[in-house]
Amino acid sequence: MENEVLLQVTDLHTHFFTDDGVVKAVDGVSFLVRKGRTLGIVGESGCGKSITALSILRLLDHPGRVVAGEIRFKGKNLLSLTENEMRAIRGCTISIIFQDPMTALNPVLTIGDQLSEVLLVHQGMTPHEARIAVIDMLSRVGVTEPQKRFEQYVHVLSGGIQQRAMIAMALLCKPDLLLADEPTTALDVTIQAQILELMRDIQHDLETSIVFITHDLGVIAELAHDIVVMYAGKIVESAPVRKLFNDPRHPYTQGLLKCLPRLDADETELFTIRGIVPGPFDVVAGCAYHTRCRYVKSICRDRSPTLEEVAPGHQAACWRSRDEYNTAEPISSEPSTRED
Ligand SMILES: Nc1ncnc2c1ncn2[C@@H]1O[C@H](COP(=O)(O)OP(=O)(O)OP(=O)(O)O)[C@@H](O)[C@H]1O
Ligand SMILES: [Mg+2]
Repeated sequence: MENEVLLQVTDLHTHFFTDDGVVKAVDGVSFLVRKGRTLGIVGESGCGKSITALSILRLLDHPGRVVAGEIRFKGKNLLSLTENEMRAIRGCTISIIFQDPMTALNPVLTIGDQLSEVLLVHQGMTPHEARIAVIDMLSRVGVTEPQKRFEQYVHVLSGGIQQRAMIAMALLCKPDLLLADEPTTALDVTIQAQILELMRDIQHDLETSIVFITHDLGVIAELAHDIVVMYAGKIVESAPVRKLFNDPRHPYTQGLLKCLPRLDADETELFTIRGIVPGPFDVVAGCAYHTRCRYVKSICRDRSPTLEEVAPGHQAACWRSRDEYNTAEPISSEPSTRED
């Protein structure tokens, strides 16, 4: 069905209970992914992108835990499934691609053995059937000489081929949902472009929904239909890709867009957002971005803005779009590290 919602994450909170205190890695995140569409999640390092993906698959390491929220996939709340039910979904119905292929690939198995395993376990294929399917998928993701690669170990392959092998593994069961966590960041630009092209083709052929995580808005522009921008564990803006690029509302999104290199600009120096992301244990009062924001007023320091609709299908969490902002007191916009 067109526009069918495949995944709906509602008010997700994932915390890490460390000896030094609680890290609110994901702090009330909601979004949805439609069938056959790509949702981009962008934001600087540490804003909670990977932890969001790992929460969906329930792959969090101790001391991380989903403490609240709902993750509804095809109508079922993944958070209430048993570990066995979850295992049946992981790697098959929902699969994940990591930035570093060595996280997913096993150095002591051949590519063929580890990719076949997915089909033997999840689809009950015979080794012969699995071999045919794996070689077919390797060639589909652009691995040259797939028969030869089938017999090889990971370490003899180049980074690009390793990444493709991992993508092949993630796609073998024709997943309904693919979580791609910075899948091309470690690759050179030519291979990056090929892999993005490949993901687009696969989405077209298999109607796969994709959650594409990156800190690079340029990459997301190529691939995503919708975008959420995260900052310090929260979504600060959410919109269809074109609206977000043409009319960004949150100062953080505006900053990220200004950081993109432009071919038509004369500037030789790239823009950077001043200040730094709050550390994991920093509790910033009000809007978490206010310490870096050029439009900061007293209300931004005092109260956290909620995500609200600023145009049809376009949401932002910024006081500037509310009436209260106009009457609030201006304060110095020098970046500072607040301690309260
Ligand atoms: N095992 C852990 N223990 C404590 N805190 C953690 C742990 N793993 C992640 N965090 C914290 O969770 C927050 C979100 O991390 P996450 O890995 O999701 O960031 P990210 O947006 O994926 O960043 P990057 O772009 O660097 O991959 C960070 O503040 C991080 O310090
Ligand atoms: Mg990450």
